[in-house]
Amino acid sequence: MRVVLLIAVVCSCAAGDEDSFNNRPCQPNNDQNAYSKFEAKHILPKKFKTSSTPVWEKHIKSLKRCKVETQTFIERSKVNLVKKICNGNGWNRQGNLCTSNSKLPVYVVKVNTSSCTVLNTPRKTEELVTVACDKVGNDCLPVHLQAKQQTQKGRKFNRFIATCWLF
Ligand SMILES: *[C@@H]1O[C@H](CO)[C@@H](O)[C@H](O)[C@H]1NC(C)=O
Repeated sequence: MRVVLLIAVVCSCAAGDEDSFNNRPCQPNNDQNAYSKFEAKHILPKKFKTSSTPVWEKHIKSLKRCKVETQTFIERSKVNLVKKICNGNGWNRQGNLCTSNSKLPVYVVKVNTSSCTVLNTPRKTEELVTVACDKVGNDCLPVHLQAKQQTQKGRKFNRFIATCWLF
């Protein structure tokens, strides 16, 4: 009985997330749309009025992401910085997760999940960004954005830490 319960918990965790995890960066992802899905969830449309709370609320509703409490968004003009996390400007935190070597400008949005309203007027802040990097098509691309990490980069303490690259 205990074993069955444990399996049920493990399975629901795996199914509940948007991606299954590879154990190294830049390994093939079966979903050819994995990057487009990431882009929709985290990269803002080209013209987006970031100072308007109703605009944020409409965007989050259109993404059907009302139940996600903390969401991170990045301006479209910065998309290459995000891709670079998987291509030389990121270090391999664990599994396929890579953290940017430098801070990136992001909007962290807090959502009231019962009313699908935005609690703060999101402001641009500089954060280290952690993404899962998988091979999609011929490129190593971000496929999932990890909520903010509390721990600082480990590079200082571990000189064997690997850079994220597609080999
Ligand atoms: C979230 O929305 C609910 C329903 O409208 C409301 O009762 C609650 O006070 C809100 N919470 C916050 C923190 O604003």
